[in-house]
Amino acid sequence: MSANSVTHTVQPAQRRIIIITGANSGVGRAAAMRFAAGGHSVVMACRSLERAEQVRREIVEATGNAAVTVMLVDMSCRNSIRAFADAFRSRYPRADALIHNAAYLSHGDTWRRSPDGIEIAFATNVVGPFLLTHLLLDLLRQSDDPRILHAGSNIIKHFFNPKTELDFGTLRGEPAGQKPTAVYHRYRRSKMALLMLTFIMARKLKPLGIAVNCLEINGATMSPETLRKMTLPYRIIGRIQNLFFRPPQYTAESYVRITTEERFRGVTGGNFNHKQQLMKPGSSEAASARQQLRNVFGSQTYPELADDVVIQEAIWDACLEATGINSELV
Ligand SMILES: NC(=O)c1ccc[n+]([C@@H]2O[C@H](COP(=O)([O-])OP(=O)(O)OC[C@H]3O[C@@H](n4cnc5c(N)ncnc54)[C@H](OP(=O)(O)O)[C@@H]3O)[C@@H](O)[C@H]2O)c1
Repeated sequence: MSANSVTHTVQPAQRRIIIITGANSGVGRAAAMRFAAGGHSVVMACRSLERAEQVRREIVEATGNAAVTVMLVDMSCRNSIRAFADAFRSRYPRADALIHNAAYLSHGDTWRRSPDGIEIAFATNVVGPFLLTHLLLDLLRQSDDPRILHAGSNIIKHFFNPKTELDFGTLRGEPAGQKPTAVYHRYRRSKMALLMLTFIMARKLKPLGIAVNCLEINGATMSPETLRKMTLPYRIIGRIQNLFFRPPQYTAESYVRITTEERFRGVTGGNFNHKQQLMKPGSSEAASARQQLRNVFGSQTYPELADDVVIQEAIWDACLEATGINSELV
Protein backbone atom coordinates (compact mmCIF):
# COMPACT_ATOMS: atom_id res chain seq x y z
CA MET A 1 0.00 0.00 0.00
CA SER A 2 1.16 3.54 -0.66
CA ALA A 3 1.54 6.35 1.84
CA ASN A 4 -1.88 7.58 0.67
CA SER A 5 -3.56 4.32 1.58
CA VAL A 6 -6.96 4.49 3.23
CA THR A 7 -8.16 2.19 5.99
CA HIS A 8 -11.01 -0.25 5.37
CA THR A 9 -14.06 0.58 7.41
CA VAL A 10 -16.61 -2.22 6.87
CA GLN A 11 -16.76 -5.79 8.03
CA PRO A 12 -16.87 -8.53 5.35
CA ALA A 13 -20.55 -9.17 6.07
CA GLN A 14 -21.35 -5.58 5.05
CA ARG A 15 -19.31 -5.74 1.85
CA ARG A 16 -21.41 -4.75 -1.12
CA ILE A 17 -21.00 -5.21 -4.86
CA ILE A 18 -21.10 -1.73 -6.37
CA ILE A 19 -21.29 -0.87 -10.07
CA ILE A 20 -20.24 2.67 -11.02
CA THR A 21 -20.50 3.77 -14.63
CA GLY A 22 -17.92 6.28 -15.84
CA ALA A 23 -15.59 5.51 -12.95
CA ASN A 24 -12.35 6.46 -14.69
CA SER A 25 -12.55 10.19 -13.94
CA GLY A 26 -14.11 12.89 -11.78
CA VAL A 27 -16.79 11.92 -9.29
CA GLY A 28 -17.00 8.31 -10.51
CA ARG A 29 -13.31 7.80 -9.96
CA ALA A 30 -13.42 9.42 -6.51
CA ALA A 31 -16.39 7.22 -5.62
CA ALA A 32 -14.64 4.05 -6.80
CA MET A 33 -11.70 4.99 -4.57
CA ARG A 34 -13.98 5.65 -1.61
CA PHE A 35 -15.98 2.41 -2.00
CA ALA A 36 -12.76 0.42 -2.40
CA ALA A 37 -11.35 2.08 0.70
CA GLY A 38 -14.51 0.98 2.51
CA GLY A 39 -13.76 -2.63 1.58
CA HIS A 40 -16.54 -3.00 -0.99
CA SER A 41 -16.30 -4.87 -4.27
CA VAL A 42 -16.22 -2.28 -7.05
CA VAL A 43 -16.99 -2.69 -10.74
CA MET A 44 -15.79 0.25 -12.80
CA ALA A 45 -18.04 0.25 -15.87
CA CYS A 46 -16.11 2.35 -18.38
CA ARG A 47 -15.78 2.85 -22.12
CA SER A 48 -11.99 3.17 -22.18
CA LEU A 49 -10.36 0.03 -20.81
CA GLU A 50 -6.89 1.48 -20.97
CA ARG A 51 -7.60 4.63 -18.95
CA ALA A 52 -9.87 2.79 -16.54
CA GLU A 53 -7.25 0.10 -15.93
CA GLN A 54 -4.70 2.77 -14.99
CA VAL A 55 -7.17 4.23 -12.48
CA ARG A 56 -8.00 0.75 -11.15
CA ARG A 57 -4.33 0.12 -10.43
CA GLU A 58 -4.08 3.42 -8.55
CA ILE A 59 -7.16 2.54 -6.49
CA VAL A 60 -5.87 -0.92 -5.60
CA GLU A 61 -2.50 0.55 -4.71
CA ALA A 62 -4.01 3.28 -2.53
CA THR A 63 -6.59 1.14 -0.74
CA GLY A 64 -5.10 -2.34 -0.67
CA ASN A 65 -8.46 -3.64 -1.87
CA ALA A 66 -7.97 -5.96 -4.85
CA ALA A 67 -11.70 -6.42 -5.44
CA VAL A 68 -11.83 -3.61 -8.00
CA THR A 69 -12.59 -4.62 -11.58
CA VAL A 70 -12.83 -2.78 -14.86
CA MET A 71 -15.52 -3.82 -17.31
CA LEU A 72 -16.23 -2.33 -20.71
CA VAL A 73 -19.44 -0.44 -21.42
CA ASP A 74 -20.48 2.36 -23.73
CA MET A 75 -23.60 3.75 -22.08
CA SER A 76 -24.79 5.28 -25.35
CA CYS A 77 -24.91 1.91 -27.13
CA ARG A 78 -27.49 -0.84 -26.63
CA ASN A 79 -25.24 -3.70 -27.75
CA SER A 80 -22.43 -2.58 -25.48
CA ILE A 81 -24.78 -2.34 -22.48
CA ARG A 82 -26.14 -5.81 -23.20
CA ALA A 83 -22.60 -7.20 -23.48
CA PHE A 84 -21.69 -5.57 -20.17
CA ALA A 85 -24.74 -7.04 -18.43
CA ASP A 86 -23.88 -10.52 -19.75
CA ALA A 87 -20.24 -10.19 -18.68
CA PHE A 88 -21.24 -8.90 -15.24
CA ARG A 89 -23.68 -11.79 -14.81
CA SER A 90 -20.97 -14.33 -15.60
CA ARG A 91 -18.74 -12.92 -12.86
CA TYR A 92 -20.97 -11.70 -10.03
CA PRO A 93 -23.87 -13.33 -8.13
CA ARG A 94 -25.71 -10.07 -7.49
CA ALA A 95 -25.55 -6.27 -7.65
CA ASP A 96 -26.08 -4.34 -4.41
CA ALA A 97 -25.73 -0.84 -5.84
CA LEU A 98 -25.88 0.49 -9.37
CA ILE A 99 -24.65 4.05 -9.72
CA HIS A 100 -25.45 5.71 -13.03
CA ASN A 101 -22.69 8.29 -12.93
CA ALA A 102 -21.51 8.36 -16.57
CA ALA A 103 -22.83 11.24 -18.60
CA TYR A 104 -22.45 12.94 -21.91
CA LEU A 105 -21.53 16.53 -21.02
CA SER A 106 -19.41 17.66 -23.93
CA HIS A 107 -20.65 21.24 -24.00
CA GLY A 108 -20.08 22.87 -27.38
CA ASP A 109 -20.00 19.56 -29.27
CA THR A 110 -21.96 19.35 -32.50
CA TRP A 111 -25.39 17.72 -32.60
CA ARG A 112 -25.08 14.00 -33.06
CA ARG A 113 -26.74 10.65 -32.58
CA SER A 114 -25.71 7.56 -30.61
CA PRO A 115 -24.73 4.36 -32.46
CA ASP A 116 -28.42 3.43 -32.20
CA GLY A 117 -29.60 6.67 -33.82
CA ILE A 118 -30.79 8.41 -30.65
CA GLU A 119 -29.78 11.95 -29.72
CA ILE A 120 -26.52 11.35 -27.83
CA ALA A 121 -27.30 13.16 -24.53
CA PHE A 122 -30.65 11.39 -24.17
CA ALA A 123 -29.06 8.07 -25.21
CA THR A 124 -26.20 8.27 -22.69
CA ASN A 125 -27.84 10.01 -19.76
CA VAL A 126 -31.33 8.48 -19.79
CA VAL A 127 -31.82 5.53 -22.16
CA GLY A 128 -28.52 3.86 -21.19
CA PRO A 129 -29.27 3.88 -17.44
CA PHE A 130 -32.82 2.64 -18.15
CA LEU A 131 -31.54 -0.30 -20.21
CA LEU A 132 -28.74 -1.30 -17.85
CA THR A 133 -31.11 -1.23 -14.90
CA HIS A 134 -33.58 -3.37 -16.82
CA LEU A 135 -30.92 -5.94 -17.74
CA LEU A 136 -29.62 -6.20 -14.17
CA LEU A 137 -32.97 -6.40 -12.41
CA ASP A 138 -32.63 -10.07 -11.58
CA LEU A 139 -29.19 -9.54 -10.07
CA LEU A 140 -30.36 -6.51 -8.12
CA ARG A 141 -33.13 -8.67 -6.74
CA GLN A 142 -30.51 -11.08 -5.41
CA SER A 143 -29.34 -8.35 -3.03
CA ASP A 144 -30.99 -7.97 0.37
CA ASP A 145 -30.80 -4.19 -0.01
CA PRO A 146 -30.53 -3.14 -3.68
CA ARG A 147 -30.13 0.55 -4.41
CA ILE A 148 -29.91 2.47 -7.68
CA LEU A 149 -28.58 6.02 -7.74
CA HIS A 150 -28.82 8.48 -10.66
CA ALA A 151 -26.34 11.36 -10.96
CA GLY A 152 -28.57 14.38 -11.37
CA SER A 153 -27.61 18.00 -11.79
CA ASN A 154 -28.73 21.37 -10.48
CA ILE A 155 -28.81 22.45 -14.13
CA ILE A 156 -32.49 21.42 -13.96
CA LYS A 157 -33.12 24.66 -12.06
CA HIS A 158 -33.75 26.24 -15.46
CA PHE A 159 -37.09 24.44 -15.27
CA PHE A 160 -38.25 26.70 -12.43
CA ASN A 161 -38.82 29.15 -15.24
CA PRO A 162 -42.19 28.12 -16.73
CA LYS A 163 -40.93 29.22 -20.14
CA THR A 164 -38.32 26.47 -20.09
CA GLU A 165 -40.17 23.53 -21.53
CA LEU A 166 -38.93 19.99 -21.41
CA ASP A 167 -39.60 20.02 -25.13
CA PHE A 168 -40.10 16.31 -25.01
CA GLY A 169 -40.32 15.95 -28.77
CA THR A 170 -36.67 16.90 -29.12
CA LEU A 171 -35.44 14.56 -26.41
CA ARG A 172 -35.05 11.67 -28.83
CA GLY A 173 -34.04 13.67 -31.86
CA GLU A 174 -34.49 17.11 -33.32
CA PRO A 175 -37.70 17.52 -35.31
CA ALA A 176 -37.02 17.91 -39.01
CA GLY A 177 -36.38 21.45 -40.15
CA GLN A 178 -35.38 22.79 -36.72
CA LYS A 179 -31.97 24.15 -35.87
CA PRO A 180 -30.10 21.66 -33.66
CA THR A 181 -29.97 22.83 -30.06
CA ALA A 182 -26.75 23.30 -28.10
CA VAL A 183 -25.38 20.46 -25.98
CA TYR A 184 -25.94 22.60 -22.90
CA HIS A 185 -29.71 22.60 -23.59
CA ARG A 186 -29.78 18.93 -24.46
CA TYR A 187 -27.78 18.11 -21.34
CA ARG A 188 -30.19 19.97 -19.06
CA ARG A 189 -33.19 18.30 -20.71
CA SER A 190 -31.57 14.90 -20.28
CA LYS A 191 -30.90 15.54 -16.57
CA MET A 192 -34.51 16.65 -16.07
CA ALA A 193 -35.67 13.51 -17.87
CA LEU A 194 -33.35 11.44 -15.66
CA LEU A 195 -34.94 12.87 -12.51
CA MET A 196 -38.38 12.09 -13.89
CA LEU A 197 -37.22 8.60 -14.82
CA THR A 198 -36.05 8.22 -11.21
CA PHE A 199 -39.53 8.95 -9.91
CA ILE A 200 -41.40 6.60 -12.22
CA MET A 201 -38.82 3.85 -11.93
CA ALA A 202 -38.92 4.07 -8.13
CA ARG A 203 -42.68 3.49 -8.22
CA LYS A 204 -42.38 0.55 -10.59
CA LEU A 205 -39.50 -1.11 -8.74
CA LYS A 206 -40.85 -0.58 -5.24
CA PRO A 207 -42.74 -3.90 -5.23
CA LEU A 208 -39.41 -5.60 -6.02
CA GLY A 209 -37.73 -3.94 -3.03
CA ILE A 210 -35.32 -2.00 -5.26
CA ALA A 211 -34.68 1.60 -4.22
CA VAL A 212 -34.17 4.24 -6.92
CA ASN A 213 -33.01 7.74 -6.06
CA CYS A 214 -31.33 10.73 -7.66
CA LEU A 215 -28.61 12.98 -6.29
CA GLU A 216 -28.77 16.59 -7.45
CA ILE A 217 -25.14 17.55 -7.90
CA ASN A 218 -24.36 21.25 -7.47
CA GLY A 219 -21.03 21.15 -9.23
CA ALA A 220 -17.82 19.20 -8.81
CA THR A 221 -14.38 20.28 -9.93
CA MET A 222 -14.07 19.15 -13.53
CA SER A 223 -11.00 17.19 -14.52
CA PRO A 224 -8.73 18.35 -17.37
CA GLU A 225 -10.07 15.39 -19.43
CA THR A 226 -13.65 16.56 -18.94
CA LEU A 227 -12.80 20.14 -19.84
CA ARG A 228 -11.02 18.91 -22.96
CA LYS A 229 -14.31 17.46 -24.22
CA MET A 230 -15.77 20.98 -24.29
CA THR A 231 -15.18 23.74 -26.80
CA LEU A 232 -13.01 26.71 -25.79
CA PRO A 233 -15.74 29.05 -24.46
CA TYR A 234 -17.20 26.30 -22.24
CA ARG A 235 -13.68 25.29 -21.17
CA ILE A 236 -13.02 28.83 -19.99
CA ILE A 237 -16.33 28.91 -18.11
CA GLY A 238 -15.53 25.49 -16.65
CA ARG A 239 -12.14 26.67 -15.41
CA ILE A 240 -13.76 29.64 -13.69
CA GLN A 241 -16.48 27.39 -12.18
CA ASN A 242 -13.78 25.06 -10.91
CA LEU A 243 -12.58 27.86 -8.62
CA PHE A 244 -15.90 27.59 -6.76
CA PHE A 245 -16.82 23.93 -7.15
CA ARG A 246 -16.13 21.35 -4.49
CA PRO A 247 -13.70 18.50 -5.24
CA PRO A 248 -15.22 15.30 -6.71
CA GLN A 249 -14.58 13.53 -3.40
CA TYR A 250 -17.31 15.65 -1.82
CA THR A 251 -20.00 14.32 -4.19
CA ALA A 252 -18.48 10.84 -4.07
CA GLU A 253 -19.16 10.82 -0.32
CA SER A 254 -22.88 11.29 -1.05
CA TYR A 255 -22.79 8.36 -3.50
CA VAL A 256 -21.33 6.18 -0.75
CA ARG A 257 -23.72 7.30 1.96
CA ILE A 258 -26.89 7.04 -0.10
CA THR A 259 -26.04 3.58 -1.40
CA THR A 260 -24.64 2.04 1.81
CA GLU A 261 -25.85 3.75 4.97
CA GLU A 262 -28.53 2.03 7.01
CA ARG A 263 -30.50 5.27 7.44
CA PHE A 264 -31.25 5.26 3.70
CA ARG A 265 -32.40 1.65 3.53
CA GLY A 266 -35.85 1.55 1.92
CA VAL A 267 -35.77 5.23 0.95
CA THR A 268 -36.89 5.40 -2.67
CA GLY A 269 -38.18 7.90 -5.23
CA GLY A 270 -36.19 10.78 -3.76
CA ASN A 271 -34.10 13.59 -5.12
CA PHE A 272 -31.28 14.19 -2.64
CA ASN A 273 -29.29 17.39 -2.26
CA HIS A 274 -25.58 17.56 -1.45
CA LYS A 275 -26.32 17.18 2.27
CA GLN A 276 -28.19 13.95 1.55
CA GLN A 277 -31.48 15.63 2.40
CA LEU A 278 -34.60 14.86 0.40
CA MET A 279 -35.59 17.82 -1.77
CA LYS A 280 -39.20 18.87 -2.32
CA PRO A 281 -40.98 20.10 -5.44
CA GLY A 282 -40.97 23.89 -5.69
CA SER A 283 -43.59 25.97 -7.40
CA SER A 284 -42.48 28.04 -10.33
CA GLU A 285 -45.44 30.32 -10.81
CA ALA A 286 -47.29 30.92 -7.54
CA ALA A 287 -44.14 31.56 -5.52
CA SER A 288 -43.03 34.95 -4.28
CA ALA A 289 -39.92 36.52 -5.78
CA ARG A 290 -38.05 35.61 -2.60
CA GLN A 291 -39.14 31.97 -2.85
CA GLN A 292 -38.16 31.96 -6.53
CA LEU A 293 -34.66 33.09 -5.61
CA ARG A 294 -34.50 30.43 -2.93
CA ASN A 295 -35.55 27.82 -5.48
CA VAL A 296 -32.84 28.81 -7.93
CA PHE A 297 -29.98 29.38 -5.48
CA GLY A 298 -30.97 26.99 -2.72
CA SER A 299 -30.85 23.25 -2.54
CA GLN A 300 -34.17 22.38 -0.91
CA THR A 301 -36.42 22.29 -3.96
CA TYR A 302 -36.55 20.95 -7.49
CA PRO A 303 -38.88 22.17 -10.27
CA GLU A 304 -42.38 20.80 -9.74
CA LEU A 305 -42.55 19.92 -13.43
CA ALA A 306 -40.53 16.83 -12.47
CA ASP A 307 -43.60 15.47 -10.66
CA ASP A 308 -45.70 15.53 -13.84
CA VAL A 309 -46.83 11.93 -14.10
CA VAL A 310 -47.92 12.23 -17.73
CA ILE A 311 -44.46 13.35 -18.84
CA GLN A 312 -42.85 10.70 -16.64
CA GLU A 313 -44.93 8.06 -18.43
CA ALA A 314 -43.93 9.53 -21.80
CA ILE A 315 -40.24 9.31 -20.85
CA TRP A 316 -40.77 5.73 -19.73
CA ASP A 317 -42.42 4.87 -23.05
CA ALA A 318 -39.64 6.61 -24.98
CA CYS A 319 -37.08 4.50 -23.11
CA LEU A 320 -39.02 1.32 -23.85
CA GLU A 321 -39.15 2.26 -27.51
CA ALA A 322 -35.50 3.32 -27.70
CA THR A 323 -34.28 0.10 -26.12
CA GLY A 324 -36.54 -2.22 -28.03
CA ILE A 325 -37.90 -3.59 -24.77
CA ASN A 326 -41.52 -4.37 -25.41
CA SER A 327 -42.56 -5.38 -21.95
CA GLU A 328 -42.87 -3.52 -18.69
CA LEU A 329 -39.98 -3.90 -16.24
CA VAL A 330 -42.15 -5.74 -13.77
N1 LIG B 1 -18.87 18.21 -12.54
C1 LIG B 1 -19.97 18.90 -12.30
O1 LIG B 1 -19.91 20.12 -12.07
C2 LIG B 1 -21.32 18.23 -12.32
C3 LIG B 1 -22.45 18.97 -11.97
C4 LIG B 1 -23.69 18.36 -11.99
C5 LIG B 1 -23.79 17.02 -12.32
N2 LIG B 1 -22.67 16.32 -12.65
C6 LIG B 1 -22.84 14.91 -13.02
O2 LIG B 1 -21.94 14.13 -12.26
C7 LIG B 1 -21.57 12.96 -13.00
C8 LIG B 1 -20.05 12.84 -13.04
O3 LIG B 1 -19.54 14.01 -13.68
P1 LIG B 1 -17.98 14.40 -13.61
O4 LIG B 1 -17.89 15.83 -13.35
O5 LIG B 1 -17.28 13.44 -12.72
O6 LIG B 1 -17.59 14.20 -15.14
P2 LIG B 1 -16.41 13.35 -15.82
O7 LIG B 1 -15.16 13.45 -15.03
O8 LIG B 1 -16.36 13.80 -17.25
O9 LIG B 1 -16.95 11.88 -15.76
C9 LIG B 1 -17.91 11.42 -16.65
C10 LIG B 1 -17.62 9.97 -16.87
O10 LIG B 1 -18.63 9.47 -17.73
C11 LIG B 1 -17.99 8.68 -18.71
N3 LIG B 1 -18.79 8.55 -19.91
C12 LIG B 1 -19.24 9.53 -20.73
N4 LIG B 1 -19.90 8.99 -21.75
C13 LIG B 1 -19.88 7.65 -21.57
C14 LIG B 1 -20.40 6.56 -22.30
N5 LIG B 1 -21.07 6.71 -23.44
N6 LIG B 1 -20.18 5.31 -21.81
C15 LIG B 1 -19.49 5.12 -20.68
N7 LIG B 1 -18.96 6.12 -19.94
C16 LIG B 1 -19.15 7.36 -20.40
C17 LIG B 1 -16.69 9.39 -18.98
O11 LIG B 1 -15.81 8.51 -19.65
P3 LIG B 1 -14.63 9.05 -20.62
O12 LIG B 1 -13.53 9.47 -19.71
O13 LIG B 1 -14.33 7.87 -21.46
O14 LIG B 1 -15.19 10.21 -21.39
C18 LIG B 1 -16.28 9.72 -17.56
O15 LIG B 1 -15.68 8.60 -16.96
C19 LIG B 1 -22.20 13.12 -14.38
O16 LIG B 1 -23.41 12.40 -14.42
C20 LIG B 1 -22.49 14.61 -14.47
O17 LIG B 1 -23.55 14.89 -15.35
C21 LIG B 1 -21.44 16.89 -12.65
